[in-house]
Amino acid sequence: MSEYPDFLANLQELNHKMTFSEIVHYRRSVRLYQQVPLEPDRVKMCLELAVLAPNSSNMQLWEFFHITDKEILEKLAHACLDQTAASTAPQMVVFVTRQDLFRSRTKQMIALETQNVLKNSPKEKQEKRVKRWHLYYGRIIPFLYTKGFGIIGLLRKIIVHLIGLFRPIFYQVSESDIRVVVHKTCGLAAQTFMLAMASEGYDTCPMEGFDSRKVKKILKLPFGAEVNMIISCGIRAEGGVWGDRMRIPFEEVYHRR
Ligand SMILES: Cc1cc2nc3c(=O)[nH]c(=O)nc-3n(C[C@H](O)[C@H](O)[C@H](O)COP(=O)(O)O)c2cc1C
Repeated sequence: MSEYPDFLANLQELNHKMTFSEIVHYRRSVRLYQQVPLEPDRVKMCLELAVLAPNSSNMQLWEFFHITDKEILEKLAHACLDQTAASTAPQMVVFVTRQDLFRSRTKQMIALETQNVLKNSPKEKQEKRVKRWHLYYGRIIPFLYTKGFGIIGLLRKIIVHLIGLFRPIFYQVSESDIRVVVHKTCGLAAQTFMLAMASEGYDTCPMEGFDSRKVKKILKLPFGAEVNMIISCGIRAEGGVWGDRMRIPFEEVYHRR
């Protein structure tokens, strides 16, 4: 057995919950799992925490496919290039971006933020704040998220470069920039999920080594959906963690100004 299950057993004996730092250290990418089942509800609970991740404009353009069905798991493992991180996993979660849902999300966000204003803002400020949310989700977000073979993004780029001559502005408005925004956000949910899983004593492996066309077909995803990451889930087996955690020296990446 690797040292980690022993570490967990010791914690359980001491009735000690992992600290945040211990959770971060415990999480490793696991490439081989024990053939023991996971409780689907605990995995689902970790996904409920994942949706609390910060996300761009609170648009939540993500969906999570929690796979517990053996047949689908087998197909997915094959689509994950038969990596053992996938083929030995008792469950998997497919993190999907849904930029195509932006119009319905803006409507939901207007409704939610209006409720929020009515509940939490002083009466005299409510009308102005509700109008501001309508402007943001009704005009600005649709302006940023609309796609059109790259051309609409190019027009946006030209507009912001012109405005940028006079004042600071957000330049990342091309269609591929917005795609990055949506994937970045989904990645934060994925990381929150992995840490939540670690706090449960469950292991994960994030994977981008997969055949996205096959995965979309297996899950019957619509054209506008994109697979962000597949996270296999299980409990680490002997040899499931490949060596020590290697990081380049912190001083090389840390800059204090
Ligand atoms: C976006 C992303 C994609 C990854 N894809 C794979 C993958 O396809 N297969 C794999 O074995 N590991 C994959 N990894 C895991 C990394 O190799 C791993 O996180 C890295 O080596 C650091 O090790 P650690 O996670 O144990 O700290 C991926 C990680 C990330 C964040």
